[in-house]
This record gives sequence, structure tokens and C-alpha cells, in this order.
Amino acid sequence: MKILAIESSCDETAAAVVEDGTIVLSNIINTQIDLHRLYGGVVPEIASRQHIENIGGVVDMALRESKTTLDDLDAVAVTYGPGLIGALLVGVSYAKGLSFSLGKPLIPVHHIRAHICANYIETPELEPPFVCLVASGGHSNIVYVKSRTEYEVIASTNDDAAGEAFDKVSRVLGLGYPGGPAIQKAAEKGDKNAIRFPRVNMGEGGLDFSFSGVKTAVLNYIHNCDQRGEEIRTNDIAASFQQAVIDVLSDHLIEAAKNCRADKIALAGGVASNLPLRDLIREKSEKSGFKLFYPKPLLCTDNAAMVGCAAYYEYLNGNTADMTLNAYANLKI
Ligand code: KG4
Ligand code: ZN
Repeated sequence: MKILAIESSCDETAAAVVEDGTIVLSNIINTQIDLHRLYGGVVPEIASRQHIENIGGVVDMALRESKTTLDDLDAVAVTYGPGLIGALLVGVSYAKGLSFSLGKPLIPVHHIRAHICANYIETPELEPPFVCLVASGGHSNIVYVKSRTEYEVIASTNDDAAGEAFDKVSRVLGLGYPGGPAIQKAAEKGDKNAIRFPRVNMGEGGLDFSFSGVKTAVLNYIHNCDQRGEEIRTNDIAASFQQAVIDVLSDHLIEAAKNCRADKIALAGGVASNLPLRDLIREKSEKSGFKLFYPKPLLCTDNAAMVGCAAYYEYLNGNTADMTLNAYANLKI
């Protein structure tokens, strides 16, 4: 079954053709990062306009690269939430138009489910149940994946998402957007033990996250250095901040896997491409006897191949939409 998948929930206009869930025939990503970099973060209105300009070309390219014609397609899939509402609407409207004109099924896909499904592309033999950390610019969740279409959120963030914290700290340090890769790079030259930033735990045994405290602690630290006329040691701050975030993400994930009595752990979302995070979770998983899975960096950040993969399983489970499909900024998993 060949699915054309479309993703436009944030600042990437993406289209892919995916066969039977895990065979990626094409995966085109048009990123708007250079445009948004000027403003230090994603500007929703600009993102929507760019999606409108790019989507036709990106879909054409995905079809061409996969040597697939519109007639060859079996269905059209699209991310319908969560995300930026204007951005989502571009993909949803385009997919609806295409599905209607071709007379082929329309499959609605949840963005976080898609991030999790990227793991099946990387490792087709991965079988649920497993516990997955989804950490991106908009989300920080620990999800219990019961089957390819059944999910239970066991932890979320009370304030900022992990990626959001990376982006904000990076901006203050003058390292630019997106913050994750920039902080990771600066951290390589810094000392992760230089400054002890807070690791917030939400009560006894609580697995939810809170990243606004560590972000504020970094801002205060920089402010104090400024006031005292001390040098701002950017690399040390980046390394210490990164360590504080990945300590919490990895601790909560391992704890959650133990609580669920799972024997497999997976990672997903843009922050999951952070190398020190992967290394730390690998080390902790080995110690606790969990098998660890994660997608390659290109499948961690936003892309449409993961949408095509999730769509296949949703379709097999009978989940299709009609022309009343809408986009939802806050969509429950
Ligand atoms: O999954 P994604 O592409 O988009 C959302 O759904 O939000 O994630 C983007 C986020 C950004 O906040 C970016 O700074 C972060 O992922 N990110 C990273 C790394 N690469 C991307 N964070 C930490 N380390 C990285 N290497
Ligand atoms: Zn995403």
C-alpha cells in the first residue's frame, strides 16, 4: 500500500511516499529554519505563508523521487494536530483537496504518534509494548505504546517543552536557532559540571517534567555574571544546562519503563537526536536491562515519512477521515 504523507505542523513543509508503513520511497523536507532564524524562533504567520508557497512543489518532488504517479497512490495522509493551527491547516486543506480529487482515502495522523512511529522505519522488527520519550520543540512526553495505534501518556511537561528550553537558552547565549544542535555543539567544548543548574522533580515519584525553572536559572546566572562584570563562559553554561535537561529526561524515562514493566525503550522527536542524551539513556538502559531504540536524526526532527508510517497502521485499524476533517492545535494523543 502506497501512501502520500504530508506534514506541515511547524516550520517544515514535508511530503513523503511510504509503502506498507516502513519502506520510505521518498522523504522531502523543505525547512524554513533560515527564515525563522532572523527572529530567533518560529513566527507562526510566516510559517503558514511558507507552507502555502512550498507545499505543491514539495509534494511534486516526493512523487517524482519515489517514481510514483498520483494514480499509483492508495491513500493520502496528513498531520492534523497538534501544532501551529495556521500551519496545520495548509497541509490538511491540501491533503483533503488531493484525496477528494483522486477519490482515494484520507488518513488523519497525530503528530506525536508519527514521531513515535519513526522508530518502526528505523527498526521494522520493533514490536510494542514499549515506553517512548517524545521530546521536541512543542512536546515532552513519556508515552506507553501498547500497540501501533494505542497510546497512553504517562508524563508530560507542566510548562516548557525540552526543545523549547534548548531554543530559549540558546537565544540568550547568542547561539542562534534552532537551539538544540547549537547548544550540543557548544557543550562539546564546555564542562558539564561547571555549574549546577536545578533538576526539577514533580513531587514523590512524579514523572512529569518542568523545564521553566532550569531555563530561568540559566538566565539568572548569565544576568549575575553580567552584573559582576564576569566573563560569560558560554560553552560551560551550554554543557551544564544540557546536562541538567538530559539528566531529568533520562531519569524519568527509566523510572517510567520500570513502572510499566516494559523491557524496551524508544526515543522520538527533535531532542532525541541529541547525542549526549542518547549516550546517557543507552548507559542507563544497559544498567537496567532495557533494550533501546531510536531513529536516525533525520527521522527524529519533523518529516513526512514518519506520518506515512503512522498512517499505514491507522488505516489498517480503520481510521480514515472525510472532507469534514479539521486541524487541531491541541490534539490529545
Ligand atoms: O520534532 P521537532 O523537529 O519539531 C517539533 O515537533 O517541535 O523538534 C524541534 C526541536 C527544537 O526545539 C530543536 O532545538 C530540538 O528539537 N533539537 C535538539 C537537537 N536537534 C533538534 N535538541 C537538542 N539536541 C539536538 N541535537
Ligand atoms: Zn515534531
